[in-house]
Amino acid sequence: MTQLPPLAAVVLAAGKGTRMKSPLAKVLHPVAHEPMIGHVLQALGELAAEREAVVLSPGQDAVAAYVAPRPVALQDPPLGTAHAVNAAREALAGFEGDVLIVYADTPLIQADTLRRLRIALHEPAEAAVAVLAFRPADPAEYGRILLDRDGTVSAIVEHRDADAATRAVGLCNGGIMAASAPRLWGLLERVRNENAKREYYLTDIVGLARQAGLRVASVEAAPEEVLGINSQAELAAAEAAMQERLRRRWLDAGVTMVAPQTVWLSADTELAPGVTIEPNVIFGPGVRVEEGAVIHAFSHVSGATVGKGASVGPFARLRPGAVLSEGCRIGNFVEVKNARLGPGAKANHLTYLGDAEIGAGANIGAGTITCNYDGFDKAATEIGEGAFIGSNTALVAPVRVGSGAIVAAGSVITREVPPDALALARGRQEERAGWAKEFRERKRKSKARRSEG
Ligand code: UD1
Ligand code: CA
Repeated sequence: MTQLPPLAAVVLAAGKGTRMKSPLAKVLHPVAHEPMIGHVLQALGELAAEREAVVLSPGQDAVAAYVAPRPVALQDPPLGTAHAVNAAREALAGFEGDVLIVYADTPLIQADTLRRLRIALHEPAEAAVAVLAFRPADPAEYGRILLDRDGTVSAIVEHRDADAATRAVGLCNGGIMAASAPRLWGLLERVRNENAKREYYLTDIVGLARQAGLRVASVEAAPEEVLGINSQAELAAAEAAMQERLRRRWLDAGVTMVAPQTVWLSADTELAPGVTIEPNVIFGPGVRVEEGAVIHAFSHVSGATVGKGASVGPFARLRPGAVLSEGCRIGNFVEVKNARLGPGAKANHLTYLGDAEIGAGANIGAGTITCNYDGFDKAATEIGEGAFIGSNTALVAPVRVGSGAIVAAGSVITREVPPDALALARGRQEERAGWAKEFRERKRKSKARRSEG
């Protein structure tokens, strides 16, 4: 393979996204807990483009903040995809290599496909433009790609501008294109907006290239990769496809999933080989699960680290900052937030551990609550190694329980418990011999008198 010219990438994200009917910018809608534009930038990142520009319209500050420090080119107002690419011209001034144009609303695109598209500009023959084609089950409103007899592209016709015969064509435009920079700027200058939407269509550079006697190549991608998101329904479809992809990736990496279709992953979820995930588990962002750990059914895990061989759930909730060391056990209806548990520590039932540091081997009884919030501030609880917290204990933070200490069940702990001590902090028990029996007799008699009278 010959040496490829340098690469620049233009990411189009200036469209209004009105079909989403959402106050959030279209490209910030998440897929697997990551904004869709983030997926596109990630795939592009693997190609290590030497220059990048993201095209936005004014007021998209949240998008600009997300893509920073990449240079942003403003398109004001957005007048179509060709107009959008042209807006990046200044940001790419002096660049003469290949330009890859990607839409920020196709989050399933993969780096390999982008690479293939770029290579198609040069092999098997030099082309002015290369377009990414696909054959969706339902071509719906995608632009149609028309091919010549020799398989090169002759034109792209937008759905709205297509006649019945063109609409019957199954080959569609995925929206992603590659072109050599000098050619691209020349072609863009000639794009007109004489079409149904009165927009400057990027797709028109194909016909223009052909008129100039230049070759247009195409590369076909799996339909899933170029799923363009314009509506909430399409967003949900992309989510489903992304989940399938993520599940497959982790299964291939040696993770056991009993019912993969019920496991919801985040783009950044990290699972080690030998991890088992039971049905109906949800992973929010920022989770790492180490070797041999088991996440039992119906658990919700977010921003947490689960150490080697640890066991979580069923019905457990790990929130951001939960760190379980090797061999920890977190059982049913236990919530852990911003708390670190040492190796082998256990909280098996019905417990809330928030803002806590829990030593190795500590045993937290059922119903233990760290009272970490007074309505204004959060306070910390420390539990030493090997401590035993009896059931239904309230630990009123800030508070510390020393290593090896025992806290009696039902205690409300408000003061430090020294290491190896017993803390008892509950009402004292009192017994009255025979009282219950006398009580019942008294009640029975008075009831009998009432029914006689
Ligand atoms: C576009 C293609 C269509 C293709 C489809 C694939 C054109 C004219 N049509 O249609 O052939 O089948 O994608 O998904 O290119 N954008 C701007 N500025 C603008 C307009 C759009 O930056 O003025 C951005 C949008 O934010 C979006 C992308 O370009 O990320 C595509 O725009 P969109 O309006 O969604 O194009 P489609 O109608 O889907
Ligand atoms: Ca689109």
